[in-house]
Amino acid sequence: MACKFVKSFLLKSSFSPVLKKSLVTSQRLFSSEVRTVTLIPGDGIGPEISAAVQKIFEASGTPIAWDPVDVTPVKGPDGNFRLPQKIFDSMAKTKIGLKGPLETPIGKGHQSLNLALRKAFSLYANVRPCRSIEGYKTPYDDVDIVTIRENTEGEYSGIEHIIVDGVVQSIKLITETASMRVAEYAFKYARDNKRKTVTAVHKANIMRMSDGLFLKCCREVAAKNKDIKFTEMYLDTVCLNMVQDPSQYDVLVMPNLYGDILSDLCAGLIGGLGVTPSGNIGSEGAIFESVHGTAPDIAGEDKANPTALLLSAVMMLRHMELGEHANRIQKSALEVISEGKVLTGDLGGKAKCSEFTDEICEKVVSSK
Ligand code: NAI
Repeated sequence: MACKFVKSFLLKSSFSPVLKKSLVTSQRLFSSEVRTVTLIPGDGIGPEISAAVQKIFEASGTPIAWDPVDVTPVKGPDGNFRLPQKIFDSMAKTKIGLKGPLETPIGKGHQSLNLALRKAFSLYANVRPCRSIEGYKTPYDDVDIVTIRENTEGEYSGIEHIIVDGVVQSIKLITETASMRVAEYAFKYARDNKRKTVTAVHKANIMRMSDGLFLKCCREVAAKNKDIKFTEMYLDTVCLNMVQDPSQYDVLVMPNLYGDILSDLCAGLIGGLGVTPSGNIGSEGAIFESVHGTAPDIAGEDKANPTALLLSAVMMLRHMELGEHANRIQKSALEVISEGKVLTGDLGGKAKCSEFTDEICEKVVSSK
């Protein structure tokens, strides 16, 4: 199977004969059981950056086969649009997905596909590591934060109604089950990734019952994980401190809305969404995704930066316990960025997506 995988790649690839020989050798060295990942290339720049990730994985000899799925909504018998069956079938088999950005059509009669995917696969924790990239100058040099956001309930439960004309109510739903599982995941993540502190971010001083329950769950889990330091802080204090000195934070765990906002703030500290990876962890599987949008202004122009999706794919490899490949690909990508010679426009360079990708491939191959 692995040989078939290399052969099909070599037929398509534009690498030199020397690199091709090296690729075959590396495939032999690292060849283990090939595992299939569901690939949702997405819309806009999605297909371009997905192809870039596939090319870099092939250059590295990563034992991954892809099952590409188009998630364009289909109309059901009740007239409502929903995710196509193929995505459920594929994820049921693979349990792991990599996803490019999806367009959220405004006023087209179906909910956000991102939200639908999260709900369909019970992806309860959104994880975003935000780490300063050496050589890519931003106002902050020493950011190394991981935000872990509850992904299924809170302010995004979608329970809203009109009480009387001019008065609407939106319900923030917090459950013990969801709070416990995201808190447990935060401590597991901290331990697995050799992090020292988990901070619960909340507003339990105002939302005494809902955030109070979330915080109580975090405290309970902390009491069972004494090897990891636990602190708790108000959301507003974290925001203030974050822009003054982000180096004081390690792993942060929080309810849905706070996580949505704070994770974008943290991404801004390291250079924006174009370089920030993310993973959605669920009980039935996991989907890793770039957090930027479809960039319709540059779609199809070979200008997109594939780094966010590539680093999300690197997170995915670690999740699949393919750390050796993950480290090699990450190191190569970060080296290309820190050298600063071949960079896409959003990183301040003039290179095309394909040139940036090829540069990473060359590094991956020569680092073996
Ligand atoms: P956007 O992130 O697509 O674009 C904002 C700006 O950043 C644009 O100038 C774009 O060219 C640039 N940009 C984004 N990613 C880039 C990359 N990888 N390389 C180089 N430049 C990049 O945000 P926008 O315009 O608000 O959203 C466009 C569409 O994407 C909408 O339909 C929105 O709903 C969807 N979207 C999807 C997301 C997802 O699937 N996770 C997340 C955010 C938006």
